[in-house]
Amino acid sequence: MGNDFLRHELEAVKEAGLYRSLRRVEGDQGPTLRLDGHEVINFSSNNYLGLANHPALCAAAKEAIDRYGCGSGASRLISGNMTLHEELESKIAELKGTEAALVFNSGFQANTGILPTLVGEGDVILSDVLNHASIIDGCRLARAKITVYGHCDLDQLETGLKDSPPASRKLIVTESLFSMDGDEAPLTEIVNLAEKHSAMVMVDEAHATGVFEPNGAGLVASLGLGDRVLVQMGTLGKALGGFGAYVAGSKALRELLINRCRSFIFTTSLPPAVMAMAIAAIDLVKKERERRQALRNNCDVLRAGLRSLGYSLGNSQSQILPLMIGDAARCMKLSEDLLRHGVFAQGIRPPTVPPGTSRLRITLMATHTPEHIEQALKVFKEAARELRIDVAR
Ligand SMILES: Cc1ncc(COP(=O)(O)O)c(C=O)c1O
Repeated sequence: MGNDFLRHELEAVKEAGLYRSLRRVEGDQGPTLRLDGHEVINFSSNNYLGLANHPALCAAAKEAIDRYGCGSGASRLISGNMTLHEELESKIAELKGTEAALVFNSGFQANTGILPTLVGEGDVILSDVLNHASIIDGCRLARAKITVYGHCDLDQLETGLKDSPPASRKLIVTESLFSMDGDEAPLTEIVNLAEKHSAMVMVDEAHATGVFEPNGAGLVASLGLGDRVLVQMGTLGKALGGFGAYVAGSKALRELLINRCRSFIFTTSLPPAVMAMAIAAIDLVKKERERRQALRNNCDVLRAGLRSLGYSLGNSQSQILPLMIGDAARCMKLSEDLLRHGVFAQGIRPPTVPPGTSRLRITLMATHTPEHIEQALKVFKEAARELRIDVAR
């Protein structure tokens, strides 16, 4: 009972050209991977600083297991609040320059929990159209009115703020570095508008954490906006190389989330090894500025190379390069063709991105070598020529 329905749904997914399946990685997460039995250069990872297999993180995790065991045993509010959780939270708050921080089990859980904690029925959320699925779901769970504004469109945002009922609580939510387009939100202008219209601001720093100067704290801190943004959230599983997520802000924010946020309250807390690797990662991020520099260098070389081949990369200035294709089937075919030539650049199509904007999402790592990038550019050159890819210019 039920399997007929499942098969019917799967057929619908296939007919829409949106079928997805899992690829298997053997070994660790490096700039090259053994993927489904083939050696490939990895341009599809969020392990931007190359920390996911760093010896310092591995050693910290092993030591934490020896000292504290494997599991945390319960949720934070029962008996699962261990010293390492609080140690990590102090580290995050110090990095971000905020009063307090709170760790979440994942970025997805953070976003789906924070939004309903801050706003509810009768309130208004103003959300960038390209915000991540976890923000979209958080907005839905909040049951507030959702006003979606055009991507980084300040005029539309201001119109939305003006049109909101005067008595409503208003919250603007945006990513700082957009996950699929690699461009930056105009955060200073957004914060100015928020102050003008008495709105709160929540910024998702999932892809910005670890990569912005001066110390990897994210774009909010880099722009000196820490005191003007109510909620900064980010993940520990991307540039920081581990797993989990954080919220940074005031003590009151932390306290309210501990009391009201369902995705914080009703879940087993992260295990000690995960805390320990995040602590080690933050120490490395603060200390090793050269990792960010290496990442930036790699981005500059690959971006310039791809542009000289005629590929369109949108407005990205970051480690996320969206190589725009448009049509979903064409995009997935290009991705497969590149893979056969040893370059893993994931095709991204709806519903992850809007229809007609399918792209290869190419992500750089600090640990890519000049040879990796040179080899990739050779393959992209062939793709542009031999596969007759009619790339946008
Ligand atoms: C912008 C953004 N926010 C949140 C998340 C979710 O974070 P996590 O992977 O820790 O669940 C992601 C990606 O996974 C993301 O890209």
